[in-house]
Amino acid sequence: MRVAAVVPAAGSGERLGAGLPKALVEVAGVAMVTRAVDGLLASGIVDDVIVVAPAEHLEAMRAVVPTTARVVPGGHDRVASVACGLQAIGCADVVLVHDAARCLCPPEVVRAVAKAVGDGHVAVVPAIPVADTVRRADAEGRVVLVDRTGLLAVQTPQGFDPAVLRRAHEAAGDNRATDDAGLVEAIGAEVVTVPGDPRAFKVTSPLDLAMADALARLT
Ligand code: C5P
Repeated sequence: MRVAAVVPAAGSGERLGAGLPKALVEVAGVAMVTRAVDGLLASGIVDDVIVVAPAEHLEAMRAVVPTTARVVPGGHDRVASVACGLQAIGCADVVLVHDAARCLCPPEVVRAVAKAVGDGHVAVVPAIPVADTVRRADAEGRVVLVDRTGLLAVQTPQGFDPAVLRRAHEAAGDNRATDDAGLVEAIGAEVVTVPGDPRAFKVTSPLDLAMADALARLT
């Protein structure tokens, strides 16, 4: 089974406020993109890695990922960046899409996702139960309780049958889904889950960065 991984790392990192692309920000002395790629490779099942970088930071990104990983320029949002990565992958049985910002995802999650695709599921996402009580704000500013039963927080890497993911991106149009499973679901394909891991959280805010830093220093 040949597994290719696309790592969207072309975000600006505005919410992190570090003044450089988020994927280049260091967690305990190692760039997030380096950690994300190393985690994929540590799974032992990834054959090909494509890192999608901001066009003006290609060399900086190349300098911090293994030479076997290819670095290509991304687009104006995550959907566009993943599409750029997909164009660069060669022949594969499974394609994983893994946010550079989820840089501490354990290798066993990578293996579980790829295995589920290998077992015949066309779209697989790691997910963990939502721990907080959740409310939805309506147009009038009222907050309505949402039944949390069955609610899941979805992570990456997400795994796909490459033909299905390509079809989903071709059909995306104005759909700017925040993940690839959202695009695949929109073309009617079934999305299944495998257990995620709290360590696969996405670094978005300065607090997330501090938590990732502390966690990385523990292990
Ligand atoms: O902004 P956010 O953290 O939700 O982005 C998720 C992932 O998508 C990050 O790893 C980010 O680098 C990537 N991304 C991208 N191209 C963009 C915007 C975000 O590759 N234009």
